[in-house]
Order: sequence, then structure tokens, then C-alpha cells
Amino acid sequence: MGKKERINKEKMKDYSRDNTDYKVKDINLAAFGRKEIGIAEKEMPGLMATREKYGPKKPLKGIKIMGSLHMTIQTAVLIETLSELGADVRWCSCNIFSTQDHAAAAIAKAGIPVFAWKGETLEEYWDCTMMALTWPDGSGPDQIVDDGGDATLLIHRGYAAEGNAKILDEPTDNKELLIINNLLKRQLKRDKQHWHNVAKDVKGVSEETTTGVHRLIHMQERGELLFQAINVNDSVTKSKFDNVYGCRHSLPDGIKRAMDVLISGKTVMVCGYGDVGKGSAEAMKSEKAKVIVSEIDPICALQACMAGFRVQTVEQSLKETDIYVTTTGNKDIITAEHMSRMKDQAIVCNIGHFDNEIQMSRLEKWPGIKKEEIKGSECPVHRYTFKDGHSIYVLAEGRLINLGCATGHPSFVMSNSFTNQTLAQIDIAANPKRHVGVYMLSKELDEEVARLHLEQLGATLTKLTQQQADYLGVKKDGPFKPQHYRY
Ligand code: NAD
Ligand code: ADE
Repeated sequence: MGKKERINKEKMKDYSRDNTDYKVKDINLAAFGRKEIGIAEKEMPGLMATREKYGPKKPLKGIKIMGSLHMTIQTAVLIETLSELGADVRWCSCNIFSTQDHAAAAIAKAGIPVFAWKGETLEEYWDCTMMALTWPDGSGPDQIVDDGGDATLLIHRGYAAEGNAKILDEPTDNKELLIINNLLKRQLKRDKQHWHNVAKDVKGVSEETTTGVHRLIHMQERGELLFQAINVNDSVTKSKFDNVYGCRHSLPDGIKRAMDVLISGKTVMVCGYGDVGKGSAEAMKSEKAKVIVSEIDPICALQACMAGFRVQTVEQSLKETDIYVTTTGNKDIITAEHMSRMKDQAIVCNIGHFDNEIQMSRLEKWPGIKKEEIKGSECPVHRYTFKDGHSIYVLAEGRLINLGCATGHPSFVMSNSFTNQTLAQIDIAANPKRHVGVYMLSKELDEEVARLHLEQLGATLTKLTQQQADYLGVKKDGPFKPQHYRY
């Protein structure tokens, strides 16, 4: 073994626990996964058209792409699209409960390294992120697909720690941050320049979700961002479809799989009335629930009123609410005090990206609280009983309910999101030296993504005449003006 090879083996020591370059729950699930991928492909016209258009040109040829995004059937179709365009892909999930094990198995069987299973511990989750970020020769990715920003965070925190290792010893009661710090300490011992070498080679990241985009913008504002980022979330064909219609489908799916409860006639409180909140509230309304919304933004609050919802605070709603759904991307929305005062048998869940919308760690430590597992990691449901005898149910341990207790958004909606992701990856590959910053895809590409999905729905676009285009002051074939989008 040469010196270079020995060093690389050393770098990988913790991260290759057996001889396979993947870690999934059960590789025997691959055939089932492949059948469901086949069904999804038919429902993902944008991704399949992108394969047809760009496949022969291989715009991602030889580019190392790392993905940290829910390892579902839909994501499998994205991964295989990136591969077909020439990329060398490694993948992990961005949530401990969101992996569909048959999807992961099919990807592993296809020879694409994937590190994900449903019900990972947090330690395993960060190890998986590290494995997906580390190629067998010890190098990192050229490009990243991120959902929520965890892969980007690991690189940036690792880079910062190589400049000042003391940040890894700063006191914190955040359990997850301690896990990240320990992982980075181990890596620092092995190689003091690892993250500097990784960051230098990364040409850019495309970010899937609202919370990940917030993180990127913070990093940019603080002057810490190390490479260009494409904000996929704010393409209209992403946030106004996935966040709204995707959640409209997958929120009730999650609640029903978890609790098998009739939503009709119940009082549901939706915290936040942004894109996800709008889809969630609409879903609950169409189940014939009585819906209450909480908001901090007066415009969103007024929109909720116009949609027929009552707008009030969580505190005002505690006596009547049966089901709580947080959708804010903010923290401490449902506090432990709130839960201590809820109705008996209330159901509490979150569909925002991270688990800090509900104060889970304070709930766990509440004096006299009794916790029981109702269902395990396949569909996590826990009952918490307070000293006064009332109980509440918490779904997916406060993590996103639609992926923790169900299978996330359906393929057609994800085709829109993931066509944007693929175009963003092609864009980064074509512009590897762009200044560090947070960018969006063009309006033309956004419209192209929509166009690719119209035919399957049987829609026929009306064509503008030249006179009409002149009258409106737009080009005949677009881009068109954005003020007509409803939300
Ligand atoms: P958004 O910014 O459009 O909406 C968030 C809303 O919450 C805003 O209107 C804001 O005013 C409101 N809000 C903030 N703090 C609040 C508080 N204390 N009380 C009440 N309302 C408050 O964001 P979005 O696109 O709707 O995304 C919301 C979250 O969902 C993010 O974390 C995002 O990453 C995540 N997301 C999840 C999925 C999924 O499949 N589960 C899909 C898309 C997005
Ligand atoms: N986010 C929401 N639903 C999803 C799905 N089905 N696959 C990947 N990411 C998702």
C-alpha cells in the first residue's frame, strides 16, 4: 500500500465499518424499492424529461455530488437522474426518520453509495453525513444537494474549528451540537486540514428548503459562506408547490397513519401561515376540521382571515384544540408549559424542518411526566402523561410528521422540486467560479419546470399574440410577470 493510500484509509477509519461502500437497513429490499421507483418515474415527468434532454450531453460528467436529502423513492429518482447526467453521487438522509429503506436499498444495489436507514440515532445520522461527504480516496464533493443545510453546516463548522478548535469546547446543552463537536474533534485529530481541503474543492451547494436558505443567508451576512449557493426553495415551482400542495397531501397522511383518528369535527391549530402553513390549514379544512391559525406576520394573518380561519395565539386556543401542527421554521412555538395545559388526548406534531418548534427536551424533563412508546421508529408515536392525569400524543418525536410517520410528498410534486435541483446542479457545474453568494435560478427556468409538468395533467397553454405581448409589455414566450401567483 502506497503512502497516499494509507493516509486515505486512515481518514476513512470510522466511516467504513464493513467492506461495502453503503449502509442501509436491508439490501434485500432493493427489488421492492426498484418497483416503486418505476411507479414514481411515471409521475415525475420533469425529471424524466431532464434525463432525456441532458442525458446524452452528460453535463455532470465526473462531478462528485454529495446529497443530504430525505432518502425516499422520489429522491431515488433524483439520484438516478444526477447519475445519468454523469455525476458520481454519494447520499445520506437529512432526517433520522425520513428514509424509506426499500428506496435506499435499491440505490445501494444500483451501485450508488448511500448511508441512510429509518430510525438512525443522532450519532449515526452525523456519521452517515460524514460518510456521504467522504469519497474512498478521502476527498470531498465538488457539489452538494442540501436539504436544511446539515452538510453545509458540517463543512463550515469543521473549517472554523481548524482555525479555532476552542469552538468545539464551548459549553452547550444542545445534544446534537455535542455530537457534531465530537465528530469534528475526531476528524481534527486525524487531519488538521481536512475541511480546508474539502471546502476549497466545493464549487457550490443547491439548497432545498426554507430553513436551509435562512441558514445560508445568515452565513452570507456574517461573511462566513465559503462557496456559492443556489436557493432552490424560492423557485416558484418549488415553494408554491412542494411547500403548499405537497404538505396539503402529506400532513393528513402522516396524522392518519400515526393516530388513525377522525380529523373531521376536531379543532386543529396550525401555527404559521406561510407556504407550509397554507397547505396544512387547507388540508385540515378540507377534512372538515375547525381550523385556528397563529401568525406573527400581519399580512399572513390577514390572508388566513380571508381564507376563513380564526387567527389567535396558542395560549388562547389551549382549551379547545385537539390537534396542533407547527409549520413556522421557528423555535419554541409549542412550549412545555403549553403541553402541560392542553386538553386530554391532544395530538401535537410539527411539519417544519427541525424538531425545535416543539420543546421536546423540556417536555422530557417536565416534573412527574410519564412517557410511553405507542409505535416505534417505523411510525413514531409517544404518549406523555402529566401528573394531573391528562395525556398528549407527540408524533415523530417532534420531527417532520409527513416524513416521520408517512412517506412525504408524492412524486408529481417532488418532480417539480427535483427538476429545479437538477437544473441548479447543472448551473453550478457550468459556473464553478461564481462569486460566493446565494443565487436563484432564472424565471425562464422556473417556467420551464412548470411547462414540463403541464402535458401530464392534460393542460394546453394559450399562446400570446404579438399584439397582446406588446400590450402587456412582456416577451411573447415569457418570462411572464410574477404577480399572478396566488400565495
Ligand atoms: P415560510 O417562511 O413561508 O412560513 C413560515 C411562517 O411562520 C411565516 O409566515 C412566519 O410569519 C410564521 N411564523 C414565524 N414565527 C412564528 C411564530 N412564533 N408563531 C406563528 N407563526 C410564526 O416558510 P415555509 O416555506 O412555510 O416553511 C416552513 C418550515 O417548513 C421550514 O422549516 C421549511 O424548511 C419546512 N418545510 C417542510 C416541508 C416538509 O415536507 N415537511 C416542506 C417544505 C418546507
Ligand atoms: N420532502 C417532502 N417530501 C419528500 C419526499 N417524498 N422525498 C424527498 N423529500 C421530500
